[in-house]
Amino acid sequence: MNPKNKPGGLIKFVIDGQKVEAGPGWSILETARHHHIHIPTLCFHPAVTPWGSCRLCVVETRYGKRSQVVASCLTRPVPELEVMTNSERVQNVRRWVLEMLLAECPASREVKDLAAQYGVTSTRFAIKDPNEECLKCGRCVAVCHEVVGVNALTFGSRGVTKQLETPHRVPNNACVGCGCCVSVCPTGALQARLDTVRGDLARRTGHGFAH
Ligand code: FES
Repeated sequence: MNPKNKPGGLIKFVIDGQKVEAGPGWSILETARHHHIHIPTLCFHPAVTPWGSCRLCVVETRYGKRSQVVASCLTRPVPELEVMTNSERVQNVRRWVLEMLLAECPASREVKDLAAQYGVTSTRFAIKDPNEECLKCGRCVAVCHEVVGVNALTFGSRGVTKQLETPHRVPNNACVGCGCCVSVCPTGALQARLDTVRGDLARRTGHGFAH
């Protein structure tokens, strides 16, 4: 094994024809960002563990004869991997993802703008709530759990019935009103739900929600 490619060492691979190096543990997305190569994202945030929920960050990888489309925020490179961030295959998958996101959160300006960049202006998927802005990316849940450490937010149900909730669907006294959930939300959806999340924080502390 080449010592430079040993676990924990730099990994040399190629993104869009450019030779790049990944630091220990970096994903393809983190390496691309380090080298100023753009890959669109919605759910990724450097402060929390990547969850891979939006799938917007897909890229095409080639390794030997093997080619696949993967989420770049969840995938670590291997030496001599070839990555294409905007191949035809990637663009097709991204358009499909954006159609699904348009159905999931049709009121989100960010999603609409991103979709328009890929020529997607409508969706073939069923729209449950035309006023929905939340794309259920999980950034708010992750930052509350991993950074703030109070678990004031969670997801109820799974699949199409998945909803952002407070535990047991009641205003949550665990919330410390730090505003981290609001600040990491990629669509601004949490702003409207703040009163439910914070519960009686203002009464308990004498302060409103800090954001
Ligand atoms: S940014 Fe990678 S799946 Fe959302």
